[in-house]
Amino acid sequence: MADLDDIRDGKNFGLGQDIESQGFYLKGCDNMGWGMKERMARIFRPGSGRTVMLAFDHGFIMGPTSGLERIDLSIVPIAQYADCLMATRGMIRTSIPAQLGKPICLRSDAGTSILTELNHNVIIDVEDAIRMNASAMAIMVTAGDPATEAKTFANLYNLVDAGQKYGIPVMGVTAVGKDMARDARYFGLASRMCVENGANIVKTYYCEGFEKVVAACPVPIVIAGGKKLPELEALELAYNAIQAGAAGVDMGRNVFQSDYPAAMLQAIASVVHDGQTPAQAYDLFETLKNGS
Ligand code: 5RP
Repeated sequence: MADLDDIRDGKNFGLGQDIESQGFYLKGCDNMGWGMKERMARIFRPGSGRTVMLAFDHGFIMGPTSGLERIDLSIVPIAQYADCLMATRGMIRTSIPAQLGKPICLRSDAGTSILTELNHNVIIDVEDAIRMNASAMAIMVTAGDPATEAKTFANLYNLVDAGQKYGIPVMGVTAVGKDMARDARYFGLASRMCVENGANIVKTYYCEGFEKVVAACPVPIVIAGGKKLPELEALELAYNAIQAGAAGVDMGRNVFQSDYPAAMLQAIASVVHDGQTPAQAYDLFETLKNGS
């Protein structure tokens, strides 16, 4: 029997006060279930509605490239400054301490080094993503590439089905290749295809006319950083993307290939979350890099 000792009658029913509709602060997410929203809220800070994701999944097709030779030495010490970590299950399991408590965006397609064979209809078993407490699953699509488009979009579609079943958002990552354009028309097409096929987040690249890519994409967009740029230019890239409506960044090389990756990550966060200009963020970078 329940313990009835000193149970008192309720008094605070807020009579006359309607229960407020809670809504949700991210675009395209109102109709998600509670679990999916909770995962999105772990990735995108409720205060700013934005995120700084740290991508270090490059090794799954490129091996131990510069900055990623040792995840324990390069990524773990700076992970505290990111809102979310994007990587493969192999690297998360072996190299990221679970007690860091950072949400994971799990790279969920299969890496191959021969690009024409990209992601040959293989995706993660969603139960493994659940075991890893993934807050999102990421998968790459190759819009417009005759050799791989159908396979990669089939992957996305299947991953969305699995994600919907268990409440895990899917991030569609738009590939770029040497034969693919890098303009608003291509990124607009690729981003929109991701959403139409069910993606809850889109990762793409900044380009001229990016505001049109964002406008036509009814879910949050984050941008990749691309090749390493001088720090000020990378901060300008992040700033321009945010000004055009991006909900954040998912950067890799511009962080872990910087000589001062912790300072760089915090400078990027000041642009994304605090509305700092590139010049202000660069000042912060300089201050932090000098350790003061
Ligand atoms: C492509 C990815 C990478 O994580 C992406 O390219 C981000 O890294 P970078 O900022 O270095 O471009 O999703 O597979």
